[in-house]
Amino acid sequence: MPKPLNLIVACAANRVIGRAGRLPFDIPEDKAWFHEKTAGTTVVLGRICYETWPRVRQDGRVPVVISSNRALAQPGVHVAADVPQALAIAQSLPGEIMICGGQRIYEETLPLCDRLLLTLVHADVPGDTWFPEWRQLPWRETWRKDSADAAYRYTFSVLERQR
Ligand SMILES: NC(=O)c1ccc[n+]([C@@H]2O[C@H](COP(=O)([O-])OP(=O)(O)OC[C@H]3O[C@@H](n4cnc5c(N)ncnc54)[C@H](OP(=O)(O)O)[C@@H]3O)[C@@H](O)[C@H]2O)c1
Repeated sequence: MPKPLNLIVACAANRVIGRAGRLPFDIPEDKAWFHEKTAGTTVVLGRICYETWPRVRQDGRVPVVISSNRALAQPGVHVAADVPQALAIAQSLPGEIMICGGQRIYEETLPLCDRLLLTLVHADVPGDTWFPEWRQLPWRETWRKDSADAAYRYTFSVLERQR
């Protein structure tokens, strides 16, 4: 029985997730949520996400990096050539699977994922990287928390895929 695929993302109302290699918003509560939810898991992520997250291996995370650069592999860091290979490696490792982006990886895995941990930021922000449209898929919301800081209103939700 394969392990469920969890996808975690913070997404603006206009589906922007990134700008110039960084997050397009700075929301401390969301960063804490992301770090807590990914601690101790196998994180599947693209090469840029990996390179911009120097502390990815803290808190017991095991990265599976999708890249053509096999030289990124080192003890405790797995490298896969594409999404299917990354998911096969992730399935072979202990621990929950968390898919962490970026854009192409989200596009390829959204149709496959079982659970979406979504932070929806209720603002349109400028950016260059997008999350695919998820609202047309059948979901059941099992948890939700509305929150805000001085700059943004946002909602954390856990959405279970209905098959
Ligand atoms: N808001 C959020 O929750 C969130 C989450 C994740 C990322 N982001 C943002 O998104 C941006 C980074 O994402 P990104 O999409 O630009 O880059 P990315 O996916 O992190 O990295 C792109 C690289 O990963 C490899 N890659 C990605 N998808 C692949 C695929 N399907 N098959 C084979 N190789 C693949 C390629 O590596 P090689 O060139 O080495 O072959 C590609 O050049 C940043 O701005 C980041 O802050 C935001």
